[in-house]
Amino acid sequence: MPDAVHLRCSDPACAATLDARDNPLACPRCGGLLDVVVPLPQADPRDLQRAWLERRRSNDALDASGVWRFREFLPAYPAPALVSLREGNTPLLDARHVPAASRVARLFFKHLGWNPTGSFKDTGMTVGITEAKRAGAARVACASTGNTAASMAAYAARAGLPARAYLPRGAVSGAKLAQAIDYGAEIVEVDGNFDAALARLVAGAGTGEYFVNSLNPFRLEGQKTVIFELLEQLQWSPPDVIVVPGGNLGNVSAFGKAIEELVASGLIAKRPRLVVVQAEGANPFARLWRSGAAALEPQRDPQTEATAIRIGAPASWKKALRALRFTDGLAMDVSENAIRDAKAAIGREGIGCEPASATTLAAIEQLAADGRIDRDATVVAILTGHALKDPDFIMRHSGRERGV
Ligand code: F0G
Repeated sequence: MPDAVHLRCSDPACAATLDARDNPLACPRCGGLLDVVVPLPQADPRDLQRAWLERRRSNDALDASGVWRFREFLPAYPAPALVSLREGNTPLLDARHVPAASRVARLFFKHLGWNPTGSFKDTGMTVGITEAKRAGAARVACASTGNTAASMAAYAARAGLPARAYLPRGAVSGAKLAQAIDYGAEIVEVDGNFDAALARLVAGAGTGEYFVNSLNPFRLEGQKTVIFELLEQLQWSPPDVIVVPGGNLGNVSAFGKAIEELVASGLIAKRPRLVVVQAEGANPFARLWRSGAAALEPQRDPQTEATAIRIGAPASWKKALRALRFTDGLAMDVSENAIRDAKAAIGREGIGCEPASATTLAAIEQLAADGRIDRDATVVAILTGHALKDPDFIMRHSGRERGV
């Protein structure tokens, strides 16, 4: 097919190509998830790198977004159609005090919690909502453990679109729920966990709701740019390891796609190893990885205090496997105690993050202690959400009463 942007089934055995304008949710031939295919730019990699950096000095809305300044690798839209809140352009901070900082040569936190709504979801939502508008959506919707709902609500409000969030009743942090309400989303509480909320959303397909969960491949296009920006911050010298929390597994899939495209277009030669981390009580993907089984076995009742990643049936597990295989990566899990300790340690760095994000440092501590990360390695922990996303967790473990 064509040089133009199109969709392709993510299952290589099918690889059906589809017209993006038909707004399919899944492959009509095999039911697989879709990928957006953007023809790779033919420009000299150094010219691209120079242009991307140059755009940081511009006040043009398209350039000022840390997502859209990498637009050569994104689907194209007319500038006035973009729905942006100047997402991206998040810092890479060096670790100083955590134990692992002395076990590896360089340890960084890439803090995606410093996005407009406080989580990495904004990097994808700017593309997802822009595409929803292009597709003529009357309403956008998602199932969420909280962050997707907050981000969708904000970007939908910018676009003037109504938004509906399906949330697991009683299992979403109050701060995230408050954000979604503040930005004007309609809230539907579903009895059951995130997986039940997602099933409820998908069951409504065809009722005119445009889905912006990470099943939506346009979201992942925006999330790809995190890797571009990270590499720019490291002067295009790829780190050895990038560690990312895994819930529904959209983010690691986006990172894998970014690395594939960066290698294919000559922007990098070395592939950083992707490590996905789950909580021990919500670990279907880590179990799949360890067992080498052919298919993911959903977990019926996932449990973790890191509620953002309390997911038992991750939709993007096949894409995630592909990302790990392409980068010689791995999947693992960490205990609730390790998450708690790592979260406190990131707080003591003066950086802070929400519990799900702290799984990354917990994993790095474990891998470094076991000698599974070289001492001369450069390692990046992706912090996906801001500390203020879950203040109750902090208060619960501080030994203080609320409000003191
Ligand atoms: N970290 C945070 C803070 C999250 O909110 C999520 C997912 C993840 C990590 C995992 O990312 O799903 O792409 O593997 N949150 C979704 C939500 C499920 O609804 O906000 P993933």
